[in-house]
Amino acid sequence: MQNVREKSRNEKASRGFATRLLLAVTSGVCILLFQNCGADFVTMDSDALSSLGNFVCSGDHKTDFSKTYYPFFKTNCASCHNNSAPVNFAQTSLEASFLEFEKTNVDKIRQYALNPNHGSGAGGPEHQVAIDSAAANYASCKDVGGGSAAITARTAALAMTATATAALRTIDLDSQMQMGAGSFGGAKLHFQVRTEVVGGMQVYYIIKPSLQTVTSGIIIKGIHIRINGTLIETATTFTGVNKTFNPGTAGLTGQTPNGNLSLGTSVIEVPGGVVATDTVQFEFETLRVQ
Ligand code: HEC
Repeated sequence: MQNVREKSRNEKASRGFATRLLLAVTSGVCILLFQNCGADFVTMDSDALSSLGNFVCSGDHKTDFSKTYYPFFKTNCASCHNNSAPVNFAQTSLEASFLEFEKTNVDKIRQYALNPNHGSGAGGPEHQVAIDSAAANYASCKDVGGGSAAITARTAALAMTATATAALRTIDLDSQMQMGAGSFGGAKLHFQVRTEVVGGMQVYYIIKPSLQTVTSGIIIKGIHIRINGTLIETATTFTGVNKTFNPGTAGLTGQTPNGNLSLGTSVIEVPGGVVATDTVQFEFETLRVQ
């Protein structure tokens, strides 16, 4: 029953998208997408969301940082995160602060900002609206221009060979990179995939990507998806991922590797898709050892 409901919901949504996009797309290849946000995305109430209307992204992440997180840090966190904390994202220098911020996990920042036990009372629930606005505004800039985010690494094309049942697929980052190859200490990217035909169209579900680290810690940010070599600019389910994993964090336990990157599912329609040969690639704004 669960499956049937999910399917019909997606079917409806996909037709809405399909209709609008088909009108706009005249080229031969047309890939349509819609998605759900992962549970580890920053969540906001509708008041916080509606207050976002006026934020204008600059196209430069440091400038966006200076208008979002940085003022919050300077006001609330600078007494320690100026020079005496492990990450000093609230220094007088914007440049230096931004470099430190880039090393920090945004989920952790939110968690600490809301924790009344952190920083001798610096953190607390009173920061909820401010930190959520900063996070949402900053994250929204990551999506500006879709494919314009600077990509530093990309996995080689992997045939998904999906079936109706979700199955685990694994990419070895040490040996299966198309761009940004390096030594990632045995790290592997896992995800699940399944497929079905909805309204005559092949639909793929890319589910819960996760990272398994072995001998190196890994910093991973901004995951984009390519299908059959084409960047899916609207595939934003995983673009907000911003995580740091220590070495050895994620052993494979059966089918559920635990270095969770996102609990979300990216749903991608591939008109003319061929299950035996359709490929997926993941590309990253940041993928590097810690
Ligand atoms: C009184 C000093 C103090 C203040 C004020 C303070 N912090 Fe911290 N913070 C620390 C110390 C010390 C650590 C390292 C120990 C720990 O992780 O708890 C830390 C660690 C952190 C970390 C973890 C960094 C990492 O990557 O491991 C985050 C995130 C953080 N603070 C966020 C904040 C935010 C956001 C504020 C402002 C709302 C803030 N802190 C205010 C002292 C402070």
